[in-house]
Amino acid sequence: MARRKIVAGNWKMNMTPSEAVKLVETLKPLVANEEVDVVFCVPAIDIIPVMEAAKGSNIQVGAENMYFEEKGAYTGEISPAMLTDVGVKYVVLGHSERREYFAETSETVNKKMLKAFEHGITPIMCCGESLEQREQGITMDWIRQQVKVGFLNVTADQAKTAVIAYEPIWAIGTGKTATTEQAQEVCAEIRKCIAEIYDDATAAEIRIQYGGSVNAKTAPDLFAQADIDGGLVGGASLKEEFGKIVNYK
Ligand code: 13P
Repeated sequence: MARRKIVAGNWKMNMTPSEAVKLVETLKPLVANEEVDVVFCVPAIDIIPVMEAAKGSNIQVGAENMYFEEKGAYTGEISPAMLTDVGVKYVVLGHSERREYFAETSETVNKKMLKAFEHGITPIMCCGESLEQREQGITMDWIRQQVKVGFLNVTADQAKTAVIAYEPIWAIGTGKTATTEQAQEVCAEIRKCIAEIYDDATAAEIRIQYGGSVNAKTAPDLFAQADIDGGLVGGASLKEEFGKIVNYK
């Protein structure tokens, strides 16, 4: 079974609500590609205006983070029900920037994964090694650990619907894309890891993205790799270039 490609933008901490609406108006016609799932993962305050602006288009809206409790005294957090109430279908979890600056760990990512599935939100779970880890030759061990802990107690049926984004930290925002060989190698290893945790059928269904300085030039080769099912795009998702990335073929 061929996996459907998924190209997601991660806006990070960019775009005020009024800027967001303008950007969606600009990108709407450019990202029209019915063969690909197109997701805009946007800051929480932009979710509702982006949803409104994206109405009638193929753009789906995702969040960049979510908390693992239902509700209560967690000042500043966004609950899963708040997201589903407005129709959010995807959430980025465990981005390396959240791990680095906001004390996110694989354990908290796992709690968020379980909560997301419980609420029918598809997680886009990020993993990736630092340059130091790559140079030490521990990339695969590190990624396997992130995947195994992230998917703890996730059922095979849930895992099948998940998205994993492989984002080498050294390639994020640096203009330094991993080579297609490097990206494919790790994405294949992630799929193997999923097959070991679950089975071949689950591994064949789960979608794995590459992220890290993806641009209109690098996307076609990357997305053509056997184990790469699309991309998680930062900087280039804020520009018209994102249309070219979505229409990479
Ligand atoms: P860039 O595409 O800006 O390198 O960001 C990648 C990323 O972190 C997406 O989540």
